[in-house]
Amino acid sequence: MSDILVSDKSGYYISLEEQHGAHNYHPLPVVLERSEGVYVWDVNGKQYFDFLSGYSALNQGHRHPRIMQALTEQAQKLTLTSRAFYNNQLGEFEKYITKLFGYDKVLPMNSGAEAVETALKLARKWAYKVKQIPTNDAQIVVCGNNFHGRTISIVSFSSDADSKKEFGPYTPGFIVIPYNDLETLEEFFQQEKNIAAFLVEPIQGEAGVVVPDEGYLSKAKTLCEKYNVLFIADEIQTGLARTGKMLACDHENVHPDILILGKALSGGVLPVSTVLANNEIMLTILPGEHGSTYGGNPLACAVAIASLQVLTEENLADNAEKLGNIFREEIGKLNNPLVKEVRGKGLLNAVVINHPDENAAWNICLKLRDNGLLAKPTHGDKIRFAPPLVMNEEQLRECIAIIDKSLNEFVA
Ligand SMILES: Cc1ncc(COP(=O)(O)O)c(C=O)c1O
Repeated sequence: MSDILVSDKSGYYISLEEQHGAHNYHPLPVVLERSEGVYVWDVNGKQYFDFLSGYSALNQGHRHPRIMQALTEQAQKLTLTSRAFYNNQLGEFEKYITKLFGYDKVLPMNSGAEAVETALKLARKWAYKVKQIPTNDAQIVVCGNNFHGRTISIVSFSSDADSKKEFGPYTPGFIVIPYNDLETLEEFFQQEKNIAAFLVEPIQGEAGVVVPDEGYLSKAKTLCEKYNVLFIADEIQTGLARTGKMLACDHENVHPDILILGKALSGGVLPVSTVLANNEIMLTILPGEHGSTYGGNPLACAVAIASLQVLTEENLADNAEKLGNIFREEIGKLNNPLVKEVRGKGLLNAVVINHPDENAAWNICLKLRDNGLLAKPTHGDKIRFAPPLVMNEEQLRECIAIIDKSLNEFVA
């Protein structure tokens, strides 16, 4: 592999997207064509460490051999049945994932946003059928600065203006309270009798890796139990070994009433998401009331089982915990004035950049790219650092050296 660019082919592909694609993203200018493990290569053959991991969809690394094997073997047999018929993969997946996470039932979907919508629908059904909230009066409490996806209902309770503005009218039935604020949570539980659920990210990833106080999740769960409110954890980004435990809720021994998973459930191969819950909640939805053509397709099921097996059998949570500690400690030790704060858990981390230029984080990401590491700013002044969990310590230390060099070049 040579670092010398023979000819830059990136411009061609970037202009294709510019001309023919919707402008709903602002990618870092790098065009990728190949990947393996913790590495990606651009169209000029330059190699990079991937420090975004497809927003934590690639916890198992790019094209993990075991996941690729499950994909290709199943692709040669049966890919889609729809749920009009049974298939010989779905039940196996359902048995595997419910046992792994300790729930009676699972409902498979595709994207993360669809799984969040599914959880909200389940909470409302439960509210009317079990909690006996008067029809159409159910409220769901959510947190400020949340990110749960892009559908109309989900952006209706977003506090991010760009996600929301000019997409109204908005879906009613949501109460937004500050994140990491148990007092306000209890106030609403006391005042409002029609609350069905509390939806929360155990760490707010998109908001810039905001880690709540220790005890927040367990105390919120206790409050939910006290007021007969469902605790819904959106672990789409924090789950599946990313934060050093299989689930971020495991750090506080919290077992959510409804658990939402996505992203790394397929190791970055296919959109696969799920909602897990016990019978009292899950069986409130009956045939014809919810579904998806691709949800639970046999290809996704085979890939998802392999993806979960890789996480557990390769002890990727332990590796994330160990490397995460090294990362935060070493970045702290750089004592670089650009680093206002380094925070996170396991290998879900962010560095808050201290610089008056509002484009500083973006420009640092360009430097990182030039030095062979891909990361993306989030919310202006933060850079998220979330490599695949299959990284080893030597590679991580190489990456820390790249970050050090890039910060120094930026200051210079
Ligand atoms: C916590 C959380 N929930 C939901 C989503 C939406 O997932 P998707 O983009 O697959 O719809 C994301 C995506 O980043 C997320 O981080």
